[in-house]
Amino acid sequence: MRIGILGGTGPAGRGLAVRLARAGEEILIGSRDAERADAVASGLVEAWPGHHLSVSGAANEAAAECDLIVVATPWDSAVATLKPLAAGLEGKVVVSMANALVKEGREFLALLPSRGSVAASIQAALPLSLVSASFHHLPASDMENLDAPITADVLVCSDHFEASKATVALVDSIEGLRGVDAGSLAQAAPIEAFTAVLVTVNIRHKVHTALQLAGYGDPR
Ligand SMILES: NC(=O)c1ccc[n+]([C@@H]2O[C@H](COP(=O)([O-])OP(=O)(O)OC[C@H]3O[C@@H](n4cnc5c(N)ncnc54)[C@H](OP(=O)(O)O)[C@@H]3O)[C@@H](O)[C@H]2O)c1
Repeated sequence: MRIGILGGTGPAGRGLAVRLARAGEEILIGSRDAERADAVASGLVEAWPGHHLSVSGAANEAAAECDLIVVATPWDSAVATLKPLAAGLEGKVVVSMANALVKEGREFLALLPSRGSVAASIQAALPLSLVSASFHHLPASDMENLDAPITADVLVCSDHFEASKATVALVDSIEGLRGVDAGSLAQAAPIEAFTAVLVTVNIRHKVHTALQLAGYGDPR
């Protein structure tokens, strides 16, 4: 499967790209600037020569032609990035990992996007796409470092069964991660907002936390 990561040149997109590529997926990193995407993709491949990662770069428009799309832009540019691409995204799974947060001092606070979550705003902008929300709580720096073991439960929500199933499968393909179907897209609001708590814990305690659900079967 070819996976396009829009805004994939940032830390979140890069981290997801290398983990998914190590799992055997073909990744196209998207950017507003195709040359920047190409340079970032080459840098990732060169950083992990032993893994033979299939990561290349292109404009966001080309990345949107992939089979499954991940949105890794800042939260307030996600809809503007996707809307012009809506026709080509019809019927496709579009995964939002964007969190609406603001930093105040040593704390991150959750903002309330219109419609309650970034993912719900994206679904409203792409009514014929299958939007899911996931990957919100994963620390990008650990994700990008393939030498760093990462163990986490990753919450997934969507109003479309097919999108939840495909996104859980995508999460499960990454070593150490377990996808957890957390319900409808209404759950994206608390999932996105909770990122503010985790990031604040990380800052206060100088750690990189990841979510693990006690009692949800055997942990990975
Ligand atoms: N960082 C984390 O640990 C982490 C973890 C989980 C989820 N997230 C979420 O994932 C998303 C990306 O995080 P990030 O830290 O990678 O963010 P970022 O570095 O600020 O942005 C990611 C990319 O988005 C593109 N971009 C920036 N401004 C844009 C605009 N106005 N319009 C369109 N594209 C724009 C840029 O790519 P080009 O300039 O190449 O187009 C940039 O490299 C955020 O919504 C964040 O909440 C982050």
